[in-house]
Amino acid sequence: MDTTLITHDLTRRFGELTAVDALTLSVPRGAVYGFLGPNGAGKTTTIRLALGLIHPSAGEVLLFGQPLRRRRLELLRRVGALVEVPSLYPHLSGRDNLEVTRRLIDATKAQRDRALALVGLEDDADRLVKTFSMGMKQRLALALALMGEPELLILDEPTNGLDPAGIREIRELICKLPQEHGITIFLSSHLLAEIEQVATHIGIIQQGRLLFEGTLDALHAQNEPQLVLEVDKPQSAKEVLHAYGWKVRGNGGHSLTLAVNGAADVARINTQLVQGGVNIYHLNLQQPTLEDIFLAVTQA
Ligand SMILES: Nc1ncnc2c1ncn2[C@@H]1O[C@H](COP(=O)(O)OP(=O)(O)OP(=O)(O)O)[C@@H](O)[C@H]1O
Ligand SMILES: [Mg+2]
Repeated sequence: MDTTLITHDLTRRFGELTAVDALTLSVPRGAVYGFLGPNGAGKTTTIRLALGLIHPSAGEVLLFGQPLRRRRLELLRRVGALVEVPSLYPHLSGRDNLEVTRRLIDATKAQRDRALALVGLEDDADRLVKTFSMGMKQRLALALALMGEPELLILDEPTNGLDPAGIREIRELICKLPQEHGITIFLSSHLLAEIEQVATHIGIIQQGRLLFEGTLDALHAQNEPQLVLEVDKPQSAKEVLHAYGWKVRGNGGHSLTLAVNGAADVARINTQLVQGGVNIYHLNLQQPTLEDIFLAVTQA
């Protein structure tokens, strides 16, 4: 598999605390990888390790198949990152903010202006940054990260502190970059609904340990939809369904729940119950949201 970022048993201790604990991650090329975890789970620490800003206590980081430890500068040139609040110069224009970094990283003016266009700031590029909204500042910070034309973009909570309009702008950008520019994105968040809308792959961590890694589809498949039924005779309904091999749970009263695979199962169950002499009052297929799955995974 063609991967960008890999960690092998990556571990980072701060004194007694193990912030990142034998973490093995794999970010395929072209993915939008959502790195999810509650506060203090170790997301920022992992990102700082991946960028070589701190050293691992054990394990290693590979970028594009090569150990970061050995070829740090060369590998990091292919990575763009946005970690914590970026330092922008409020008294300079958007373009001049990029200009400072452009000279440092030896990018061209065309690359600078392309980055501005990519984040939709070309028309506002000559305004002073102190007049920018939070969302515009965040997009400018992304332009900084994009200027060197990275293959991998690492973003730590990129929508933190933004209003809904700002969040939408960043979300649209995150979707556009892999599709139109072939950039792989690794982004951390504790906002599950956000990640659900953009990610192709998910890693979930808690207390520094990986609880799940896979595609969003695989995560959903692990958590089957639930069919909730209201019937006139719950006891007979259970017997009928057991006879057909379904695993049924009573919810008390006239309500029953069973795990199903999809709409075809619902139709089948409906017919089986009616033929078994059970009347159905109500039938509701509940798809677990990422939020439900996240809670189930992190509380297990
Ligand atoms: N430099 C440090 N010194 C000591 N402890 C640290 C340091 N950096 C992080 N930690 C601790 O490591 C754990 C993981 O922190 P980290 O910032 O990686 O979590 P996070 O998942 O990014 O959380 P959040 O969602 O709040 O940003 C926390 O308990 C934190 O207090
Ligand atoms: Mg963090």
